[in-house]
Amino acid sequence: MKILFVASECAPFVKTGGLADVIGALPRALAAAGVNVRVLIPAYPGLRALAGRATSVMTFDDLSGGRARIRILHTEGLELMLLDAPRHFDRAGTPYLGPDGKDWPDNDRRFAALSLAAAKLAMEGAGGWRPDIIHVHDWQTGLVPAYLAQSGRMTPPVVMTIHNIAFQGLFDASRLPELKLDHKLFTPEGFEYHGRIGFLKAGLALSDKITTVSPNYARELLTPDFGMGLEGLLRARQNDLTGIVNGIDDDLWNPETDPNLVRNYSARSLKRKVANKREIEARFGLQRSDGPLFCVISRLTSQKGIDVLLDCLPDLVGQGGRLALLGTGESHLEARCVAAAKLDPGRIGVIIGYDESLSHLLQGGSDAILIPSRFEPCGLTQLYGLRYGTLPIVSRTGGLADTVIDANEAALAAGCATGFQFTPVHPTALAPSIARACAIYRQADVWTAMVRRAMRHPVGWGRSARAYHRIYSNLPAA
Ligand code: ADP
Ligand code: GLC
Repeated sequence: MKILFVASECAPFVKTGGLADVIGALPRALAAAGVNVRVLIPAYPGLRALAGRATSVMTFDDLSGGRARIRILHTEGLELMLLDAPRHFDRAGTPYLGPDGKDWPDNDRRFAALSLAAAKLAMEGAGGWRPDIIHVHDWQTGLVPAYLAQSGRMTPPVVMTIHNIAFQGLFDASRLPELKLDHKLFTPEGFEYHGRIGFLKAGLALSDKITTVSPNYARELLTPDFGMGLEGLLRARQNDLTGIVNGIDDDLWNPETDPNLVRNYSARSLKRKVANKREIEARFGLQRSDGPLFCVISRLTSQKGIDVLLDCLPDLVGQGGRLALLGTGESHLEARCVAAAKLDPGRIGVIIGYDESLSHLLQGGSDAILIPSRFEPCGLTQLYGLRYGTLPIVSRTGGLADTVIDANEAALAAGCATGFQFTPVHPTALAPSIARACAIYRQADVWTAMVRRAMRHPVGWGRSARAYHRIYSNLPAA
């Protein structure tokens, strides 16, 4: 079985969030199940060096009439296909934003070009390889089934995964000709969405199967509170929608071997975790204390509920806790975090920025990780927290609810708790859950038992990769 993954990011090459982690790890887990996956991503500046080493397997005129190439190379255990279209992707900035922090004004054309290239590859094959199935991820690749549908040819089936429905890729209808989209599909059954072109809408309306990244989020998506306007369409396609929880890459995220830690450790040698805590204290300017060290590793956006956490900092510090926060995002949230650290240096440490290595150290040396998201399709940082024995404190939503077992009395008695849940996303619910964590932390044996249990909790890709395999196996052949 040959599958083409199409996405806008892929770890460890280019990453702004969990999408990259999934695209980097799931193909290798599928390979173990005998599925041959190739991953198509754009050749952003950070990938130019790799592109230089890759073999060209297809040359064509891209969406804007410029020459583009698809190149392939085997690296980091992946069969990576790079869309080499410099005019769209060889630009400084993130995959989505220019150096000024604003969306690239031609993001519609850039990601339409990616989708069109994927559709062409799927129909014609390249270098003797043609996929049986195309698996597209998020709005940036939503137009793939639209381009396939308007080709009028026999085309491979498409699976679409929703990683985050908050980003829908909506653009003005006047862009139809520029994007080479057929007016016939500009209907509510196609990619029309309230008079605009909806990239995610296209994917959801026109793909054969839809998945999302946790069973709970799959249910939430059918409601107006979480479906963000697409709940009606998703309800109509409910029989084609499956929630499959994300896993973690065991090679990159393993406290026993992680090169980003000052000291490696396992569930049997937990005392070694302390060396990592000392390093965090030094890096974040924190004083030593007997209370727990909490961390946050997050995009700073309203999704992540950081504003709610900021309102709870007096409670956190009042309970003897300290906080190390690593994040980047909306400037008003960055400013509030920096101000909180200024107000209470020694107990609140903040580093604004994106730092992969530091994110591993924080997991390695903190006692607990705070994730107060307003919605969370799956979430990966709580899974890394479990693996590293850094107990997650999470809002009861999306994949967070599916993956963390709350330390309520029954779970504690039964010996199955792995973290703390709270609801609603409000300081009046978060503050007591922080207090609960601090109270259990003071009972060292109970805390240590929870940490050991969390570290044993299965968070790998095995089961979920098999669930994707089942979906692929049940698709009609092209
Ligand atoms: P989302 O994809 O919504 O941002 P996830 O929890 O699924 O949330 O994934 C976030 C990923 O990005 C994790 O791998 C996390 O460690 C990483 N991450 C988030 N913010 C930062 C940061 N400032 N520095 C380093 N890694 C970060
Ligand atoms: C999105 C979601 C996050 C999920 C990730 C990978 O960015 O916000 O919850 O874990 O995609 O699927």
